[in-house]
Amino acid sequence: RPAGARRRSGLTFEPVPPNSLDDVVVPDGYDYEVVVRWGDPILPGAPEFDFENQTAEAQSKQFGYNCDYVAFFPLRGRDGGRALLVVNHEYTNTELMFRGFDPATGTSPEDPERIRVELMAHGISVVEVRRRRRGGYEMVRSRRYNRRITAMTPMRLTGPAAGHEWLRTEADPEGRTVLGCLNNCAGGLTPWGTYLSGEENYNQYFVNAGAVEDPEKRASYERYGFGATLPDFGYRGWERVEERFDLARHPNEGFRFGYVVEVDPFDPDSVPRKHTALGRVKHEGAETTLSRDGRAVSYMGDDERFEYVYKFVSSRKMARGSSRRAREHNLALLEEGTLYVARFSGDSPPQEIDGSGELPSDGAFDGTGEWVPLVSGEESFVPGMSAAEVLINTRLAADRVGATKMDRPEDIQRNPVNDRVYAALTNNTRRTAADEANPRTNNKHGHVLEISEEGDDPAATRFRWRVFLLCGDPDDPSTYFAGYDKDQVSPISSPDNLAFDERGNLWIATDSGGALGQNDGFFAVPVEGPERGYLRQFLTVPVGAEACGPRITPDQRTIFCAVQHPGEVDGASPDNPASRWPDGGQPRPSVVSVFKTGRGERRIGS
Ligand code: FEO
Ligand code: CA
Ligand code: CA
Ligand code: CA
Repeated sequence: RPAGARRRSGLTFEPVPPNSLDDVVVPDGYDYEVVVRWGDPILPGAPEFDFENQTAEAQSKQFGYNCDYVAFFPLRGRDGGRALLVVNHEYTNTELMFRGFDPATGTSPEDPERIRVELMAHGISVVEVRRRRRGGYEMVRSRRYNRRITAMTPMRLTGPAAGHEWLRTEADPEGRTVLGCLNNCAGGLTPWGTYLSGEENYNQYFVNAGAVEDPEKRASYERYGFGATLPDFGYRGWERVEERFDLARHPNEGFRFGYVVEVDPFDPDSVPRKHTALGRVKHEGAETTLSRDGRAVSYMGDDERFEYVYKFVSSRKMARGSSRRAREHNLALLEEGTLYVARFSGDSPPQEIDGSGELPSDGAFDGTGEWVPLVSGEESFVPGMSAAEVLINTRLAADRVGATKMDRPEDIQRNPVNDRVYAALTNNTRRTAADEANPRTNNKHGHVLEISEEGDDPAATRFRWRVFLLCGDPDDPSTYFAGYDKDQVSPISSPDNLAFDERGNLWIATDSGGALGQNDGFFAVPVEGPERGYLRQFLTVPVGAEACGPRITPDQRTIFCAVQHPGEVDGASPDNPASRWPDGGQPRPSVVSVFKTGRGERRIGS
């Protein structure tokens, strides 16, 4: 740890003011370039993008829709500037991708080809990139590494629930092979160099959960928000092309989604694996670190109102070295371990937590917490549930042990500089009763928790925590920026994805849907020293978009931003677009790289 790193943030950029511009706006002295857009050809033989004549065949070889999590894997041994960019494609905006789509009936003139395009626009992309002389990165149409994973790609279930009766279907009587991953939101990097991806709102692709005969299965679907007939929002009609999305006919298919998926980006032929040991929730991310004794620890949020914070600790330690044996050992680490859920206890008198956001008399929303084990290997700690049942019905298991209901847990990540763990709670307008860890009722703009594991060991079962940020307009008295002077900070709403730079500054991407009347973006905030809490906006994304990533390259000279769903505005359609970013035509979700121009210090944030 370099001397002074704990004190000086090195963040000297001029903040980007709140705005509603239809562009990516970066600070003075910075520039951005689009790296890859929805529809860009990435596999050999892929045609150029043609919005008016999109086909499933083309889409299966092109970059998918709604880019979310961004990972960056340097390619060693190649020319220094080459890397793999791996990106989730969370969902499709049917109403923006196709003309004439009717959300009420889930139909459009191009059905069923439209539905096949959407299946191919989901999943994950692996794209080789190279550093440009000017700064930033550009895509390479690499035959060796580029890959598309879609809603039709075969994946293997691993861990204690693989093969369980609830995971078996007509097409897969063994309950071990699933086609595709869905709604992959955030993710994680593993210390052994693989990519993790969380399946989030997969309930929205299924119909007829109310027609499932087994009452236990029906109750489980209800707990996970599957619609009894149609989904609660965004009916897509997929069951007309892929019958498995009709639970009346295939009652177990919905239990085969909701996992953390591991992909080896360096092996394009590898089969992605859905790890049941990490539980089945609406997974946001799974950022993974090592415990003091070398075991893998993945922090996970279940992103829905009043859901829980989880962590997984592997049974075995990571093997060092690059031998084939070490690789195989590490690729199995997430197949066996202990799954915990978090219980937070405040240390202030409960009557002082009145939901207003006003600090209690001890000066902080803070307290202690414990990681409550749900299951360890084949052993369940939840009365009345087997290990496999806990891993398939993880929400029900966490309900039974009295875990703390949070304000939509998004990214949770360990800061490698100060060892503390930061958790984004994006918002929860339905909260009517505050507690110290979720101290505002009608929490429109969300907050960020700072967690100190006992002994700074990610495998610890006890921790201390405090609220680091209460987001919103700094003029709003219920906001809190770690005690920093609120006249100097930027307004921020709905923290979602997190990252750290090499000095340990926290970078936050937001997904507010315009809750403060301004576009979403990236923010940077020191967590140590005199500038702790001095939050500044680093970039903003175009109209209707959510900012995802952030991903800072190891050399600290580039930050990637996934611009998700530009133009997603009520009533917008191809005939009435709300955004024309990035190229003046229909809006296209895209990954951009942001870098400094000119001479001098090139570090992002300087
Ligand atoms: Fe897809 Fe929780 O954001
Ligand atoms: Ca997210
Ligand atoms: Ca307190
Ligand atoms: Ca989000």
